[in-house]
Amino acid sequence: MGLGFDLNAVETPYYIVDETLLIKNLEILKKVIDQTGCHILLAQKAFSMYSLYPLIGNYLNGTTASGLNEAKLGYEEMGGETHIFSPAYSEKEFDEILNICDHIIFNSFSQWQLFRKKALASGKQFGIRINPECSTQDHAIYDPCSFGSRLGVTLESFRPDLLDGISGFHFHTLCEQNADALVKTLEIVEQKFGKFFSRMKWINFGGGHHITRNDYDVNALVACIRRFQEQYGLEVYLEPGEAVALNTGYLVSTVVDVIENGIKIAILDTSAACHMPDVLEMPYRPNIVDAGLPDEKQFIYRLGGPTCLAGDIIGDYSFDQPLRRGDKLVFCDMAHYSMVKNNTFNGMNLPSIAIADKDHRVKLVKSFGYEDFKERL
Ligand SMILES: Cc1ncc(COP(=O)(O)O)c(C=O)c1O
Repeated sequence: MGLGFDLNAVETPYYIVDETLLIKNLEILKKVIDQTGCHILLAQKAFSMYSLYPLIGNYLNGTTASGLNEAKLGYEEMGGETHIFSPAYSEKEFDEILNICDHIIFNSFSQWQLFRKKALASGKQFGIRINPECSTQDHAIYDPCSFGSRLGVTLESFRPDLLDGISGFHFHTLCEQNADALVKTLEIVEQKFGKFFSRMKWINFGGGHHITRNDYDVNALVACIRRFQEQYGLEVYLEPGEAVALNTGYLVSTVVDVIENGIKIAILDTSAACHMPDVLEMPYRPNIVDAGLPDEKQFIYRLGGPTCLAGDIIGDYSFDQPLRRGDKLVFCDMAHYSMVKNNTFNGMNLPSIAIADKDHRVKLVKSFGYEDFKERL
């Protein structure tokens, strides 16, 4: 299969992240940091495999979190800068957030007013998330700019009278996009909120930049960052998640049974619903090593998981040989938004987590069992 590591070293199902591929991505991101002096943070919502945080911390400036638990993880395991954005902070968690995080981004001026006094006494930095209302993509579920969105302050609700103590703006509007979408978004951000830039120290361009994808226009990104630094004197932050772990990991599974019902169906020991929920949510069809589109190769199968859900289907694929019980299938690009989103519906075991190191040695990081299922119920 040419992946370079021993597929049998860990019992399936397991996620495996290839350190060499991760370093390749980190080098691309570090080059953007070095070329521009911007700060790049890991958005942990996409990838929280903290055994790799020491490595990632050698390249990036720190982490951003979606809430207290992610903030703690980034603070404990990577260090560097610790940022946080949540649509709303509760009073019971705010003191701890203030202790751990150096940059806290509020989603509304009402939240800023609620915590302002306490916040300012801490000497930390505070930002407000703005909503430029500029949709550049079609996935409604991932579009924070859609009508009625709860994410970010629109120009209509903006309160310049409450900006004292706020030192940064944050926006997040992109999803798996190239730099052209950023260029378009920045134009609108400037038109709507540019008049307040002189009161800010920094701006965070959010995530959704597919910087490590082969066709990504890194030069255009660098130009955007430099322009904001030079024209407005702002420090620029990016907080990609997916781009950090893009194409660095796999989910390895085994065929458990092959049945027929008008078509051939292979049942695997991994589930779309439990182990790769974005396949159903996005939805998308993950690539499999050595498999093709349904009509590309001779033997065609629908691949499904072992849960009760009729729709626990990964997709239709074709192979050079008939599938047999015990065959291993390797799903590609399974490092991001996979282990952070998985679940134990039906009592499914969570896949183990492993690393293929630079010498292609497989190291098991963690495996899960009945206790993990039971403990959360
Ligand atoms: C506020 C914020 N920042 C960063 C990200 C990371 O996005 P991505 O993984 O697409 O780069 C997200 C994703 O939803 C987000 O909501």
